[in-house]
Amino acid sequence: MIRIYNATKSYGEGESAVAALRGVSLEVPAGQFVALMGPSGCGKSTLLHILGGLDTLEKGEVYLDERPIHRMGEHELTLFRREKVGIVFQSFNLLPTLTVEENVMLPGLLSNKDVPGGGTLRERTLALLDEVGLGKRARHMLHQLSGGETQRAALARALLLKPPVLLADEPTGNLDSEASANVVRMLRELGRNNGTTIVMVTHSREVAGMADRLVQMRDGKVVDDPGADTPAPEAVSAPASSSAPTA
Ligand SMILES: Nc1ncnc2c1ncn2[C@@H]1O[C@H](COP(=O)(O)OP(=O)(O)O)[C@@H](O)[C@H]1O
Ligand SMILES: [Mg+2]
Repeated sequence: MIRIYNATKSYGEGESAVAALRGVSLEVPAGQFVALMGPSGCGKSTLLHILGGLDTLEKGEVYLDERPIHRMGEHELTLFRREKVGIVFQSFNLLPTLTVEENVMLPGLLSNKDVPGGGTLRERTLALLDEVGLGKRARHMLHQLSGGETQRAALARALLLKPPVLLADEPTGNLDSEASANVVRMLRELGRNNGTTIVMVTHSREVAGMADRLVQMRDGKVVDDPGADTPAPEAVSAPASSSAPTA
């Protein structure tokens, strides 16, 4: 589902260049929930940005859903991301002056894709808001929500179009441990129910422990990945995927 080979990326040029990724390779089977940990500055967010098509590699290859996103142009990437990738980054694209419902609905308004589940966009939105415990908050303005509620709204929005891939960058930052556990449990359950492949950055061992696999990074490299050979859990409704290895 996600395959990344020798991903190399630096910022800046010449003397002041900073290497953010120094040859990262990682394969994540469909439906797996991966936690990504490592010291600040080791390249975790950069890796998620690359996977989400929000930034480009200098060297290396990235395949999402068997599509080589390292070869896509900006326009193609935008369309691809809209349909295939759910993004839960700190306040990424959430609009404070829209209602919770409008925020969650937005990717559906921007996409030509049919709403998953067969109902209307609004029905899907309200069902997801119920699932993340925000059913009663649909008409509130986003800025009226607490931190944990905002995270859950971001999660609902990321899942609206049932993306095969979900990327979350510290989705539990600023939350206490009980609220963190709730958000991650929700992420895991919603992911399993949808057969979604999840990569989540976290600083919390406790949160990481809820994932199927823990990948550790340091200095722009993967330094520990004991779960590299672990098969994906039996996904409840994993779509028949085209994950046959390419020659
Ligand atoms: N847009 C940017 N411009 C310049 N340097 C950056 C940029 N983004 C990240 N970096 C640098 O790349 C390295 C990796 O950053 P990042 O991926 O954000 O690490 P992490 O998420 O693990 O804390 C750091 O040294 C950081 O300062
Ligand atoms: Mg980061």
